[in-house]
Amino acid sequence: MYSARCTLPGAAGETGDGHAAGALLRGWRKRALLTQEQLAEKAGLNVRTVRRLESGGLQPRSRSVLLIAQALGLCGEEREQLAAAARGPAAGEPAVDPIVPRQLPAGLAALAGREGELTTVENAHRAGPALLVAIDGMAGAGKTALAVHAAHRLAPAFPDGQLYVDLHGHGTAPVEPGEALARMTRALGVPGEDLPDHLDDRAALYRSVLARRRVLVVLDDAADEDQVQPLLPAGPGCRVIVTSRRRLSGLGDSRALSLDVLPLAAAVALFAEVAGRERVSGVPRGELYEVVARCGSLPLAVRIAAERLRSRPTWGVRDLLERLAGDRLAELAAGRHDVAAALDRSYERLPAELRRAYRLLGARTGAGANVDPRTAAALLGTSAPHAERLLERLLDAHLLREAAPGRYRFHDLVRDHACRASRVA
Ligand SMILES: Nc1ncnc2c1ncn2[C@@H]1O[C@H](COP(=O)(O)OP(=O)(O)OP(=O)(O)O)[C@@H](O)[C@H]1O
Ligand SMILES: [Mg+2]
Repeated sequence: MYSARCTLPGAAGETGDGHAAGALLRGWRKRALLTQEQLAEKAGLNVRTVRRLESGGLQPRSRSVLLIAQALGLCGEEREQLAAAARGPAAGEPAVDPIVPRQLPAGLAALAGREGELTTVENAHRAGPALLVAIDGMAGAGKTALAVHAAHRLAPAFPDGQLYVDLHGHGTAPVEPGEALARMTRALGVPGEDLPDHLDDRAALYRSVLARRRVLVVLDDAADEDQVQPLLPAGPGCRVIVTSRRRLSGLGDSRALSLDVLPLAAAVALFAEVAGRERVSGVPRGELYEVVARCGSLPLAVRIAAERLRSRPTWGVRDLLERLAGDRLAELAAGRHDVAAALDRSYERLPAELRRAYRLLGARTGAGANVDPRTAAALLGTSAPHAERLLERLLDAHLLREAAPGRYRFHDLVRDHACRASRVA
């Protein structure tokens, strides 16, 4: 996935023709009767660096060239020759296109709805000064789909490449910032052995490499601000899209975009697209609206419901509706897509006190009913100010929604999940 053979556009002395320099180097090393190990030791370089320099698998960097020239005792003319090969073709010779990272995963050909949100992300990054757009929303709301789609559309404005890292912030093993930096700097052409051990030094190297490039960075599924902060470039040409199930704040020059579920009409369009037009033609519009309403218009749930219909040729939309009238969460699982499993990951990340509040509130709040801090305080056996803090934290984690200031409400599927969690607790 990551190419070590990247040129470093914009970094002085770090672009060039690795093969030409590699061939020269090999010849001079043999002339000096040195093995690769001996040369590495003499030059104070790692032997892997020498091997890769010789095989042309790495662009010679100015510091390495200097050290090797000294170790081989090259004369002035030879040093010039090596440096010239390392610099690359002279003016007038055909230039080689630099290899730049293009790491975006395949996106959806078209998004249902989301025109406004796409415009917001694109405008912020095409014309706006904000370094970062942070997309937050509940599990399965379509944050990744939006970020990746927007990034593909923005890609031409970032000629030095696009980096993509899934930070697995809500998985069982979130990616450490140091690991994410290692992957990104490698993808930008920095050899692994040049990577500093300390997180701050790695982050500084990453910022240096990006300082004069125009790169779009997508950081998907961030756990929190601490995971994101070291991964932010500082150069004026870079922009970042972050997604998270949590509202992120304190990330400096950023624009927040909270992604809600889809409008009903867009959810119906998504359902029809995935189920297949022939499966929905002739079905009363009201039935289709009812199906997506039972999915709470959540893109993940709508997609799963549609996939289930598509994979059961004998079912009609009515059969699906009847099933969704029972244990919805059990129905909304198909292959690797699973609404309950997605919500489990949010729930499991909560501290014990919030898990308890989530379960109790879910079990004792009627469908579609609002909760305010006073009712919550009575249910949880705590004070109203403390209950409000708990509600706010569940809101930040997108396990509650804000119906009006000071009034909170569960999304139907989240309430189902909280009830289920209260039964097994
Ligand atoms: N606007 C949309 N149009 C069509 N499909 C969508 C849309 N939004 C999301 N989807 C689909 O719904 C599913 C869930 O979307 P996605 O993975 O982007 O959600 P998410 O918010 O990133 O979830 P998570 O919090 O688990 O990372 C995916 O299969 C995605 O392709
Ligand atoms: Mg996602």
